[in-house]
Amino acid sequence: MCGIVGYIGKKQAAPILLDGLSKLEYRGYDSAGMAVYDGKQIHMSKATGRLKVLSEITHEGATLPGFVGIGHTRWATHGAPTDSNAHPHFNETETIAVVHNGIIENYLKLKKKLIERGYEFHSETDTEVLAHLLDLYYKGDPLQAITKVMHRVEGSYALGIIFADHPDVIYAVRKDSPLIVGKSEEGNLIASDVPAVLKYTRDVYFIENEEIARLSEQDIEFFNVDGEPVEKEAKRIEWDIHAAEKGGYEHFMLKEMNEQPKTVRDTINPRIKDGQIVIEELGMSDEEIRAIRKIHIVACGSAYHTGFTAKYVLEGLARVPVEVDLASEFRYRNPILEEGELVIIISQSGETADSLAALRMAKERGCQTLGIVNVVGSSIAREADQVMYTWAGPEIAVATTKAYSAQLVAQYLLAIKFAQVRGEIGETQVAELLRDLKKLPDQIEMLLSHKERIQKYANRYLASKDVFFIGRGIDYAISMEGSLKLKEISYIHSEAYAAGELKHGTISLIEEGTPVIAVATQDDLFKKTLSNIVEVQTRGAFVMAVTNAGNTEIEKTAEYVIYIPQTNPYFTNSLAIIPLQLFSYYVAVGKGCDVDKPRNLAKSVTVE
Ligand code: AGP
Repeated sequence: MCGIVGYIGKKQAAPILLDGLSKLEYRGYDSAGMAVYDGKQIHMSKATGRLKVLSEITHEGATLPGFVGIGHTRWATHGAPTDSNAHPHFNETETIAVVHNGIIENYLKLKKKLIERGYEFHSETDTEVLAHLLDLYYKGDPLQAITKVMHRVEGSYALGIIFADHPDVIYAVRKDSPLIVGKSEEGNLIASDVPAVLKYTRDVYFIENEEIARLSEQDIEFFNVDGEPVEKEAKRIEWDIHAAEKGGYEHFMLKEMNEQPKTVRDTINPRIKDGQIVIEELGMSDEEIRAIRKIHIVACGSAYHTGFTAKYVLEGLARVPVEVDLASEFRYRNPILEEGELVIIISQSGETADSLAALRMAKERGCQTLGIVNVVGSSIAREADQVMYTWAGPEIAVATTKAYSAQLVAQYLLAIKFAQVRGEIGETQVAELLRDLKKLPDQIEMLLSHKERIQKYANRYLASKDVFFIGRGIDYAISMEGSLKLKEISYIHSEAYAAGELKHGTISLIEEGTPVIAVATQDDLFKKTLSNIVEVQTRGAFVMAVTNAGNTEIEKTAEYVIYIPQTNPYFTNSLAIIPLQLFSYYVAVGKGCDVDKPRNLAKSVTVE
């Protein structure tokens, strides 16, 4: 996620901005910049790479003298990590500077209109649209210009803005992306998150959605989207700096699990316009989509599990043959790849060695390639013919959660789009699918709120040695991810098994007390999975089940039952995985494991 810091007060602003940005580095970024008013005009400095680079080129801020300024660390979403794409962004006369965290969903339409009005753009970012739009509406009153911009843009934004002819104030604006205000003796600050201001103050105002803050050296005022004053109380922050980096959560993994509603929303919303799926970055015409004869999905670990899920969704909806491979197998098995076949590589980091090698092999064989990637400008993103970003923001915990959820919904969107273009589903079914898709974030939110109950269940498994996850169809894919989550952070051995396969050997392992976690969200397979649950339960297994609300008969055989809300059967992975993530998290915490940095694991496996 991008990081924003602003300062106005008696001290030199630039060193304070650099210090504040350093406290936000944990959010992940690939470039940084600052803009400071020096008494006559706004000067700007920005650089790709680590904050150290910006600090060096500005001599720790000395080359940007002045008492009011804004700073930014950029996590690239629109446009690769480059100096020109780094924030802040200027209007043409360099009298307005803006930094932004979030996604402007209608930036292309606004950019087109601004270009028609003669504005010139110098970056690929959605943020630069804001700088020119402020310029368009600015007639001497910054607050009026800002409220007009707020009425025009769609999407999420946290903004820091300075105006050269109003150098005695900084403006902060918020919609969906977090932004706070700190009041201190040395001056007043804005920031994306509490850690950036804790050195100066513990008295913080949390800007609410569609609110504006105006900070002078002495005062802090708040307004609503109509420019009307709003009264706010400061909150006293008691967190220590370390806890604050995690937004008050004990671990990054828990924080990122709780970010899943937002990352699913950010991945879906910009790609649904007027009830239609619009995946601009797909770069494929309807003809080309109709000409696809087969899809290969290639990935590692959790990314592979999303691809395994997508096989059912793509084949079920778009009726196109799908083959799913582990990248480490695919690259060496000399696969049969023909013209007209699409190879989709899924990767959070975009740097996984096996997945990158698989991509290169597919391209050598003449296949069309699509990357579904989270890190903008990463190797897979750059080398794939097309890339569809999962806008999950940086994922710090080694065990993926929010990127996994974003990868799932990105593939649901692809499947619906392909099915519609290939004439397999009509407008009514598209509308129903999109309705269910847009409900997922709130349903995930609701499931996350059941954490106490999941923690209670988890405490029963702290001494477990072997745990079995079973399921059929998409439930088998969910079992794979549930099993991996448990293994990688709690170090408890577990296996995911196709429930129908148990009787072909593995059921011999089931004895009194063997923990079995059964996933039963596929209505058409529910009875079959139920009979598999009975099979293991009658041999002594202790069963915890994850199933759809209403399937209460399962309570006759399962000790614990976790219900998920109704959704389309193709989308249940997005819901059932939430309690399984929480389950693994609380087992690992209960065992005292290092949840964010499990032993032997790296966040990105860039070697074979
Ligand atoms: C998942 O929790 C693991 N961290 C791991 O399996 C991961 O999904 C896998 O290494 C793939 O990484 P990528 O998505 O960055 O390519």
